[in-house]
Amino acid sequence: MKVVSLFSGAGGLDLGFIQAGHRIIWANDIYADAVETYRKNIGTHIVEGDITAIPSEQVPDCDIVIGGFPCQGFSVANTKRSATDERNEMYKQMLRVIKDKTPLFFLAENVKGILSLEKGKVMQMILGDFRNLGYTVKCQLLNAADYGVPQQRQRVIITGVRNDVDFEYMYPEKEYGENGGCGIKRWVSVKDALKNLPDPDKPNNLLNHEYSKYKLRFNGYLGHRMIDPDKPAPTVTARGDDKGGVVVLHHYNNKRRMTCRELAVIQTFPIDFVFEGTRSSVYRQIANAVPPLLAFAAAKQFKLYKGKLNA
Ligand SMILES: C[S@@+](CC[C@H](N)C(=O)[O-])C[C@H]1O[C@@H](n2cnc3c(N)ncnc32)[C@H](O)[C@@H]1O
Repeated sequence: MKVVSLFSGAGGLDLGFIQAGHRIIWANDIYADAVETYRKNIGTHIVEGDITAIPSEQVPDCDIVIGGFPCQGFSVANTKRSATDERNEMYKQMLRVIKDKTPLFFLAENVKGILSLEKGKVMQMILGDFRNLGYTVKCQLLNAADYGVPQQRQRVIITGVRNDVDFEYMYPEKEYGENGGCGIKRWVSVKDALKNLPDPDKPNNLLNHEYSKYKLRFNGYLGHRMIDPDKPAPTVTARGDDKGGVVVLHHYNNKRRMTCRELAVIQTFPIDFVFEGTRSSVYRQIANAVPPLLAFAAAKQFKLYKGKLNA
């Protein structure tokens, strides 16, 4: 299917859709380094720019619109829903593109925290807004570890099927579980995922295999916890500030932080996927991404549709 991708970042979500056999025909992001990464690894169809300044006529017709919209500026309060504030609500941009392009389907990804914003009212507002465009909307929290990603990353996946389309989107069945058994495999551990990577402190040719020297502390807070080598890694996060850079997980040897490459492997990016920009920017692009393997699991469910596509 022909896919338009919004808020594409370095392209984790898009890569999963491509691996499932779809074709991304247009993508967009405002973040120059991420766009450069995307161009080098995925394709030149990505347009750099602020989505709020891109008219829908510049977006091609497609079968699916996908995007992990940022969730800053959310509020259900009327005061915050003024015309000016609405520009900060990026999901409104996704609504706008879906309204104007009327794709058969859409898929939106977001952090788990979106479910509890304003005691769930924000999520109800979002789902209601998507429904009002004429789509049958579903929403489910998926754990990336259940699809073979060596990471416990919970993400909300919202899907929509246009009301006149004869199809029901079914979320992918879990393929992995904490202990495995009953036909499902055991979660992939971080140790297994990283076992073939060279020691970054010894000479090697692996790109992006460098790490932050920010001191290690073990106080139990985010970025300051021991990693259990026999379990999937905790969520690779882009949280942090502009001065100190993003919070980076410890390596499970508990002697240093993870390299960008190690986090990319934990996010299931291919080993030859090269990230552009400073180390801090690369950490952020990787952490922002949907793990391609999770994206693949969700994307392949659209292949069950046997109806007519856009010519
Ligand atoms: C969570 S990340 C998406 C990551 C992507 N789905 C992936 O899998 O790699 C959200 C993206 O929205 C982009 N973004 C934020 N505001 C934007 C705007 N006004 N126009 C276009 N992109 C924007 C950010 O630069 C960021 O890359």
